[in-house]
Amino acid sequence: MSKIALVVGATSGIGHGIAVTLASKGTSVILAGRSETAAAKIIEECKLASKDVDPQPTFTFKKVDGFNLTTIKDLAGSITSLDWLIMTQGMATIQGFTPTSDGFDQKLSLHVYSRFLLASLLSPKLAQSSDGRVLSVLSGGVHSPYTSYTSDFELKNNYSVKNAADSAGFYNDCYLDCLASKNNTVKYGHAAPGFVSTNWGTEMPAMLRMMIRPLQAAFGRDKFKCGEYMYEGLMGMETGRVNIIDQKGMGGGGVTKVHEEAKGEVFEKLGELCKQWM
Ligand SMILES: NC(=O)c1ccc[n+]([C@@H]2O[C@H](COP(=O)([O-])OP(=O)(O)OC[C@H]3O[C@@H](n4cnc5c(N)ncnc54)[C@H](OP(=O)(O)O)[C@@H]3O)[C@@H](O)[C@H]2O)c1
Repeated sequence: MSKIALVVGATSGIGHGIAVTLASKGTSVILAGRSETAAAKIIEECKLASKDVDPQPTFTFKKVDGFNLTTIKDLAGSITSLDWLIMTQGMATIQGFTPTSDGFDQKLSLHVYSRFLLASLLSPKLAQSSDGRVLSVLSGGVHSPYTSYTSDFELKNNYSVKNAADSAGFYNDCYLDCLASKNNTVKYGHAAPGFVSTNWGTEMPAMLRMMIRPLQAAFGRDKFKCGEYMYEGLMGMETGRVNIIDQKGMGGGGVTKVHEEAKGEVFEKLGELCKQWM
């Protein structure tokens, strides 16, 4: 029977590449994001990519806003059956701490809290699958630790572009590893996609975007090639620990030196922050 994947962030870029790759392999995909118009076009691409597959997979769209964790909870609650959860929702900005209506920083809400919440809420459902898998595409193996997690977990006093990037990568390693210990039949991974030609940086000032786009066109990997590599990474994962996956989909990458001592506390703090939605 065809697998069912939920791809959050499937409406653009890396998530788009992963959704079409999954479709070509006969996977039914639930595409999630804010833009219904973008999703409708990508669903047509998924149908084309799977036209020779038997049985025919299905493609649906679910609207979700990672700045509003109630919509994340509602999305998780609306899923009846699931094999694979893939999360690519994200943004690239140089803005400082910018609160969502939940009071969290926007970037951390997309890169950490919405992902932690979805992975936590959907793990029991994934454990019912014979092949449950979770992949968070962000910065596995390429970020530094964020050592102020004890004193300024949410970066309310300590915000910088580097701290936001490091904390997001570091927290993803930690919660995925803890979920892997608790759910021993489900596989969990954190991938770094490398430099990919996408709409990444839409929220940046126009001047920076004008510099990034030619670089992406010249040196960025094609999003569908990235989708293939991320698929290989998804398939290569093992149970019992977080799988750190590189831009070519190879596992075996390492966590940071602070990971072992920090992961339990990070997991608890995320649970505390998100408890009203758990
Ligand atoms: N591209 C690269 O070179 C690169 C390198 C390293 C890491 N990454 C990371 O990979 C991830 C994907 O990046 P990308 O290059 O694919 O970027 P992208 O083309 O800008 O796509 C971002 C995706 O996130 C979704 N999204 C943004 N804000 C959202 C919100 N509030 N709620 C729900 N979904 C939201 C967007 O969908 P809607 O607009 O429909 O909501 C879109 O599908 C990001 O976390 C990025 O930091 C990218």
